[in-house]
Amino acid sequence: MSKVAIIGAGNVGGLAGTWIAGLGLADVVLIDKGSGRAKGKAMDINDALAILGSDRWVDGGDDYSLIEDSDIVVITAGVPRRPGMTREDLRTENEKIIGDILDKAVKFVKESTAWIIVTNPLDYITNFVYQRLSIDRHKVMGMGVNLDSSRMVNQVSKILGVSRSSVKAMVVGQHGRGMLPLVDDISVNGVKVALSEKEKDIIRDRTINRGAEIVAAFGDGSAYVAPGAGIYQIVRSILTNSKEVLPLSVRLEGEYGINGKCLGVPVKLGHLAWDEVIKIPWTEEVLSKLRAL
Ligand code: APR
Repeated sequence: MSKVAIIGAGNVGGLAGTWIAGLGLADVVLIDKGSGRAKGKAMDINDALAILGSDRWVDGGDDYSLIEDSDIVVITAGVPRRPGMTREDLRTENEKIIGDILDKAVKFVKESTAWIIVTNPLDYITNFVYQRLSIDRHKVMGMGVNLDSSRMVNQVSKILGVSRSSVKAMVVGQHGRGMLPLVDDISVNGVKVALSEKEKDIIRDRTINRGAEIVAAFGDGSAYVAPGAGIYQIVRSILTNSKEVLPLSVRLEGEYGINGKCLGVPVKLGHLAWDEVIKIPWTEEVLSKLRAL
């Protein structure tokens, strides 16, 4: 059976673990610092698994040896946004936390282990993890623009009155200020739709601001249900070697004329890794925005 370690048993990590184990994908280990949060959450999720009809198991604690033999390590530890903060404001605080975590985790992971990064600022932290681990770039991927794309699909679905499953809409770039919702490429079952400039502006703005809107409404934390689902989506894909194409933050080395940065682009997912960046003939306008990030 596959094993997924989630470091950071907070709101996002707890829910991702619930879905991964609850929907039968893998056994899960939750790690958190000091407190009994990871242990308690693991017990709570296990009790839910009996109800959900899953035979997977969840373990939890603060001992990093628990992550040994994991096929995937998900990093959701760190500080979430508070009202008025941007994701970029979390950089110094979260970089330090992630550095400490990598130091503790690295001796327990296999060479084949894939890393899914969730901590914000997402693209920056994903690149930081890649550089610090110094591993094959295909093993490190950031969860961000797949979540933003689902937010965009929701907006389009609402405006057009069609099922979410029929809408194709993608966000690329940064999971933050440099987010680029591709409003000129929206399709319904592959057929491009003619939206007015006003509708495109609404879709773009609501997609970009959705995270901040949720932070403002919560008052004491950031979104975690959709981020948990976004993690589940990637885990499912790379455990099943699905070849699914998802927009994720990956380290670019020449693709789209970009070098040495992590940015959200469509990638084909393979077995415990992303296989390749999908090259889309975007307009010069999109390309120049992407290259400027
Ligand atoms: N080691 C292990 N766990 C840690 C450490 C550390 N050094 N520092 C913090 N954590 C844990 C916290 O104890 C907490 O349980 O990370 C968890 C974060 O959980 P929440 O505060 O609930 O935050 P959450 O909403 O889950 O967001 C986590 O995901 O979407 C991003 O911006 C968000 O960076 C944030 C991350």
